[in-house]
Amino acid sequence: MAYSAPRGTVDILPEVSGKWQELEQLLRTICANYNVKEMRTPIFEHTELFSRAVGDTTDVVTKEMYSFADKKGRSITLRPEGTAGIARSYVENKLYALPEKLQKYYYMGPMFRYERPQNGRQRQFHQFGVEMIGLESPYVDVECMVMAVTVVEALGLKDITLHINSLGDEASRDAYREALKQHFAPVLNELCYDCQQRFEKNPLRILDCKVDKDHSAMKDAPRTIDYLSESAKEHFDKVCSLLDDLEIDYVIDTNLVRGLDYYSHTVFEVISDDPKLGAGATVGAGGRYNSLISELGGPDNPGVGFAFGMERLMIALGDDNNEEDGLDVYIMPLGHEAKDLAMQILTMLRANGFTCDMDQCDRGLKGQFKSADRYHAHFSMIIGEEEVQKEVVNMKCNHSKEQSIVPLENIVAFIENHYEGGDHHE
Ligand code: HAM
Repeated sequence: MAYSAPRGTVDILPEVSGKWQELEQLLRTICANYNVKEMRTPIFEHTELFSRAVGDTTDVVTKEMYSFADKKGRSITLRPEGTAGIARSYVENKLYALPEKLQKYYYMGPMFRYERPQNGRQRQFHQFGVEMIGLESPYVDVECMVMAVTVVEALGLKDITLHINSLGDEASRDAYREALKQHFAPVLNELCYDCQQRFEKNPLRILDCKVDKDHSAMKDAPRTIDYLSESAKEHFDKVCSLLDDLEIDYVIDTNLVRGLDYYSHTVFEVISDDPKLGAGATVGAGGRYNSLISELGGPDNPGVGFAFGMERLMIALGDDNNEEDGLDVYIMPLGHEAKDLAMQILTMLRANGFTCDMDQCDRGLKGQFKSADRYHAHFSMIIGEEEVQKEVVNMKCNHSKEQSIVPLENIVAFIENHYEGGDHHE
């Protein structure tokens, strides 16, 4: 039987994993720059965590979760996103008791959603996310947004827009929910079954319905921004004025409500119009969540964060700068004795910090030179019978084409001298 990877999953093969590592390294550097520390939480959590945090009327929870019963019958879910796990860990490990009131975390790793796979959408995908927990300040909302913009700028992504909106506080959302109910009540029987359920439980979710998205009532639905309480409006105005001061471009998108329930106040999305992704693709998104920590049993500590889809960042990055690092040395033994010696030298060179490899296939010179070429080796080290007898190796610099006979005990010094002469492959 031929096996294939499950639909919506992708193997990251060695030819692209280097580019993933570069992306990860760049993100880690930005996090260090922002004093944001890594947190690693489990890939699976109790299902109740997500239904509570993300919301049991959201598409993510009702349709997209990979849930299963473990051997003791507990319901377990592969994490569909990272915020819930970080919030759970923050409460469970009492991180709110640390002397620094504002805690800043980042994470990178696989997430799982049962969605229809398409360009930049998978069932196992990766997110890079940041959560800043502890303060309600609009300055922290803006720190998050600036960080998200820094990420796309550092990656050189073009045609990017920051969309922002406010959902307001509890009072604003109560008023808004009421307005939505009044708006949709007359057309309720024209909406899909799910929307009729949402109408009762959580009318905000009607707005991200994929079935009814073209219904005329969607177009003139009430806007969150018109129902903000005084203090919610003040918070949002401050966010906007801080962005203005920092000269960060943004558009206020009154249709932006986000598909997860934990949000309050500021929500935002980083939208790309790069044709490689398809116009209007969301590369990253986030917002404030002021009641999530207390809902999970912690103190009343607010948070704000965002996450980028790393596959989308990779697609937008394109195929340039795919320059592969080469080997320092490729060792080419000819014959059994030479191979024994090659193994010794290989181990010794690696212990000295050089990147190297040797032919293990007992091929002739021609095949071995081809490998040296494919691995972009700086040196080919040829060891034949004569070299073994004389206790030397034949070093060929693949850049200058120069060949040198080097005694075994001088190999390391020879390579170092050569590189110090400025002829390093980097
Ligand atoms: P989200 O909008 O559900 O938010 O996902 C964030 C990003 O993950 C999306 O903008 C997209 O780039 C990527 N993404 C989502 N689903 C997929 C998929 N099936 N395949 C590929 N990429 C995908 C969150 O997850 C929130 N936890 C963000 C957040 C953090 N809010 C506050 N803190």
